[in-house]
Amino acid sequence: MSEFAELKNDRFLKALLREEVDQTPVWMMRQAGRYLPEYRKTRQQAGDFMSLCQSPELACEVTMQPLRRYPFDAAILFSDILTIPDAMGQGLFFAEGEGPKFRKTIRSAADVDQLPDVNIASELSYVTDAVSVIRKELNGSVPLIGFSGSPWTLATYMIEGGGSKDFRIAKQFMYDNPEAMHLLLEKLASAVIDYLNAQIKAGAQAVQIFDTWGGILTPAAYREFSLNYMNKIVDGLIKENDGRQVPAILFTKNGGQWLEDIADSGCQAIGLDWTTDIGQARARIGDRVALQGNMDPTMLYASPQAIRKEVGSILQSFGQGAGHVFNLGHGITPEVNPDNVAVFVESVHELSAQYHA
Ligand code: CP3
Repeated sequence: MSEFAELKNDRFLKALLREEVDQTPVWMMRQAGRYLPEYRKTRQQAGDFMSLCQSPELACEVTMQPLRRYPFDAAILFSDILTIPDAMGQGLFFAEGEGPKFRKTIRSAADVDQLPDVNIASELSYVTDAVSVIRKELNGSVPLIGFSGSPWTLATYMIEGGGSKDFRIAKQFMYDNPEAMHLLLEKLASAVIDYLNAQIKAGAQAVQIFDTWGGILTPAAYREFSLNYMNKIVDGLIKENDGRQVPAILFTKNGGQWLEDIADSGCQAIGLDWTTDIGQARARIGDRVALQGNMDPTMLYASPQAIRKEVGSILQSFGQGAGHVFNLGHGITPEVNPDNVAVFVESVHELSAQYHA
């Protein structure tokens, strides 16, 4: 009997543990989002993005929306990585069409010292409540992924006060105040551990750490300021819940040159963006961890024939056997035609069966 017996579809969890599956499992980063008209409608009902995240019922509704349309092999909690800095009192808001912003910024060692010690698990009970509601609604159909940002990626937003083209302020802070930066990352790593463990206890069956901006660092700075803290998080995670292993996925965008180091973190899988050949990545890391990825998200604007061909090339590059979770190399973008997502998901399932004898 399968380790995941009560799950009707356990391909995703099995592939993360490099166990054999009948077809390669697939999900999509940002699978609940603005490319779906039903998402835009629910978001409008909620009023704004944070109200959507803070209502467990609405967060559950948008988590389920892509699963009603497509046979994805996993659901991902609907929330955002910036809930942690918000719970630390930084005042997150989303200006229409401008992305995330913070009312407060971290610009000095004193700002880091003054960051309050908050009980993340209780401050973010709206997130763990959403996890419970979603697990009930999924009813064992597919596993639920919980997530968090990496300490480095969260720190960039907190220092800059929002997104940035070059993260000049965050990098200058790191270069000029490495000790304060380490203290900030330490506080964030401990918050992330509490947050992910609370999600796991509430029912998240795998977790992903989004290190969206680790790839803008030098190799030395990546190890010191990003990977180092993800290692601590992986060490601090609950490894087993409900008698099952809880796999951890580390996704560093543009981290292709550091795969060996990432594999050493103790994670079960590495998320790959589209700039690394997945077959070459597999040859480098062998069977140490599973790989997740890695179609260029922009491919979803191409024709159904081109999408199917690209899915086939990625499957062929990975090759025979276990240890691949299909995904995009980064999140789906808002202008994609939802019909093309159906082509993507069906192509993965149809074309992958031949690689699982
Ligand atoms: O994958 C999923 O479907 C789960 C939901 C999810 C969201 N954000 C919902 C969201 C996840 C996993 C995230 C993670 C996230 N948030 C990351 C890391 C992943 C990545 O894409 O790199 C980052 C950097 C953020 C911070 C953030 N939140 C940004 C930069 C934005 C603006 C994005 C944009 O394109 O405008 C958000 C808002 C956000 N988070 C939206 C969604 C669906 C769009 C908000 C809206 O409805 O207007």
